[in-house]
Amino acid sequence: MNSEFANRMANLNGTATREIFKLLSRPEIISFAGGLPATEALPVKDVRSIAADVLGRADSYKILQYGTTEGYAPLTERSKEYVAEFGVKAQDNSQMLVISGGQQGIDLMCKSFLNAGDCVLVEDPTYLAALQIFNSYEAAAVGVKANSDGLDITDLEQKIKKHKPKFIYLVPTFSNPTGKTYTAQNRREIARVTAKYGVPVLEDDPYARLRFSGEKVNALKSFDLDDNVVYITSFSKILSPGLRVGIAVGNRDIIRKMAICKQGTDLHTSLLAQAIVAEYLARGLLEPAVKASLPLYKERKDAMMRGIERYMPQEFNHTSPDGGLFVWGEFEGCDINAAELLAEAVKRNVAYIQGSVFYADGGGKNTIRLNYSNASAEKIDEGMNALGNFFKEIISKEK
Ligand SMILES: Cc1ncc(COP(=O)(O)O)c(C=O)c1O
Repeated sequence: MNSEFANRMANLNGTATREIFKLLSRPEIISFAGGLPATEALPVKDVRSIAADVLGRADSYKILQYGTTEGYAPLTERSKEYVAEFGVKAQDNSQMLVISGGQQGIDLMCKSFLNAGDCVLVEDPTYLAALQIFNSYEAAAVGVKANSDGLDITDLEQKIKKHKPKFIYLVPTFSNPTGKTYTAQNRREIARVTAKYGVPVLEDDPYARLRFSGEKVNALKSFDLDDNVVYITSFSKILSPGLRVGIAVGNRDIIRKMAICKQGTDLHTSLLAQAIVAEYLARGLLEPAVKASLPLYKERKDAMMRGIERYMPQEFNHTSPDGGLFVWGEFEGCDINAAELLAEAVKRNVAYIQGSVFYADGGGKNTIRLNYSNASAEKIDEGMNALGNFFKEIISKEK
């Protein structure tokens, strides 16, 4: 081969962690490293019968044809009601775009806005794969300080002035990685400050429906003052990640640009997948299925909390989310490098993700993210026992 790869590939090397993760499929390993919805919550039977019905219709050939980039009309219609439950209003279809999962929404926003060298502001820490996408567009992610209410508004305003970001990327509800949710007041403040400076916000909201305790909070988009918030949500965590269907709602001009970019990426989201999701919504199956899955998520989250109390060192300061899939913790005051220790933990048959990969600047060396959705309560207890003993040994050696 004579050609060289694009310069931007220089920023996208595989990490050592990737090699370790290959080991996680071994059955003896209890992995808290993933981010999958509970296998038990995937509605196999309903999707099987809906797929048969959708393909059994007289005009089913339309589903196997090309479709429009903007999306399958019955899904767009149903999605208006769906997003309205969190206060997100779309007056007409020009404000909506069907996307192939939230991941594609992030990519299309980047493709529409970013030149090499541009800045995106993020909460520190934030969703790892979003940081990787920013990297692939040769943009710099800059972290904004956060507190238990959400973003630090003073820091947000200072960083907007200093870095002149192209947009701000946020996961305000049950964040990946922290599990944290911004208060309504914090969302209002973010909407006010970003409107003042005319900065677009990308609100990534895949987890809001996975709430098993606490009060519902409307989307940041519902506080939008200047039509500068683009809202993306996804059916991955509440129906099926394999279907690859999500929705973007926002300013018409931005949605139009994202649609043009999507043409180059995949022409449109699979029509069969869109038709299945539309029918699933039309039959009213989503709400009862999500409701039925919540006790399972709560049981697993509670098992993880009990495991932390029982086994983890007291220096482990952690979140206790009301929903979503993740707990985040920091070994306070400890000189621990979670990345370096991961291989050793995997030898003890337990895995986590080192928190540093979620930081824009690679900080947070003594932090970890734990996922509780994909193991039984018994396995969570066993895994936390192993993890707790492991970190207690490390900390006692350090002292
Ligand atoms: C915050 C966040 N955004 C986006 C995604 C991507 O999800 P999908 O593309 O399946 O909707 C994930 C998946 O883990 C996520 O945690």
